[in-house]
Amino acid sequence: MKVGVLTGGGDCPGLNAVIRSVVRKGVQEYSFDFVGVRDGWLGLLQDAVVPLDIPSVRGVLPRGGTILGSSRTNPFQHEDGPRRVRETLAAHEVDALVVIGGEDTLGVADRLHRQGIPLVGVPKTIDNDVSGTDYTFGFDTAVGIATEAIDRLHTTAESHMRALVVEVMGRHSGWIALHAGIAGGANVILIPERPFDIDQVCEQVKSRFKINYAPIVVVAEGAAPKEGQLVLKDQSRDEFGHVRLSGIGEWLAREIAERTGKDARTTVLGHIQRGGTPSAFDRWLATRFGLHAVDAVRDGDFGVMVALQGTRIGRIPLADATAEKKVVDPSLYDEFEVFFG
Ligand code: F6P
Repeated sequence: MKVGVLTGGGDCPGLNAVIRSVVRKGVQEYSFDFVGVRDGWLGLLQDAVVPLDIPSVRGVLPRGGTILGSSRTNPFQHEDGPRRVRETLAAHEVDALVVIGGEDTLGVADRLHRQGIPLVGVPKTIDNDVSGTDYTFGFDTAVGIATEAIDRLHTTAESHMRALVVEVMGRHSGWIALHAGIAGGANVILIPERPFDIDQVCEQVKSRFKINYAPIVVVAEGAAPKEGQLVLKDQSRDEFGHVRLSGIGEWLAREIAERTGKDARTTVLGHIQRGGTPSAFDRWLATRFGLHAVDAVRDGDFGVMVALQGTRIGRIPLADATAEKKVVDPSLYDEFEVFFG
């Protein structure tokens, strides 16, 4: 049996840990052969397939990123894409694929599986928004980095008695914002699942200043104010005169400063949340996902995704995992009401 391994979408800490455990168990226990696909689905469109064996995964467990490279290429958006994917797999005599990716990559995997390609999915993303798994690896590392940043921002905010807005990743879900915000003792947490009222945010900020405390506002990049509260003045022009829409963090700091008369600053954490070494939890989860994914290949159980269900690793249909994003439940958000404001 020859198995191809592919990492797609935005990278995240723990990808190499999955590759390592898939290869180690596949070679040692099942005598599988492996190849790596370069740069996600792009590698199957461009015939970029490389050898993958135990020596090539040595030492990669603590390494961030992916030794195989990644991309957001979708073969269904390329002429003859699925046919080219099939041809590359056939040319390299690949019998099955292990596809490590987030919702988009796994959605493509589901469609290709329906067209007859045997594959098993492994969920990754710092956003933690893949349905059917309690956690994705990468999330714990990102939360740790964001929490440390918030801890640091508390002391500088206090020294200058100013508000600090921390923008974290999460276009569609507020998992990082909620977990890091609670762990870091934020006073306001804004998530995409719940449009916010800027007047209320400013009231919360003012009430912190009143008790001589510098407020920290954590905002997910996809969070937005209620309809009608984002106005045209938020457009600025860059040095070339092009209109530029500022990020939500920048917008919030400007509104807070204008409406409260207090100084406010923004820190955008960006890709720092995705880079570098995975946390111990992410290495553990990624390793377990890899071991179970290779078991699914051995069982011939294709079209499934491995998933953390409590403390056990189960398998669910890829179609269930990719039908919709896993968003923050409003009741979970409301649990923390006492800390806000
Ligand atoms: O999906 C993971 C993620 O890190 C999101 O949180 C973020 O919005 C996006 O990827 C950034 O993508 P890119 O690296 O392509 O800018």
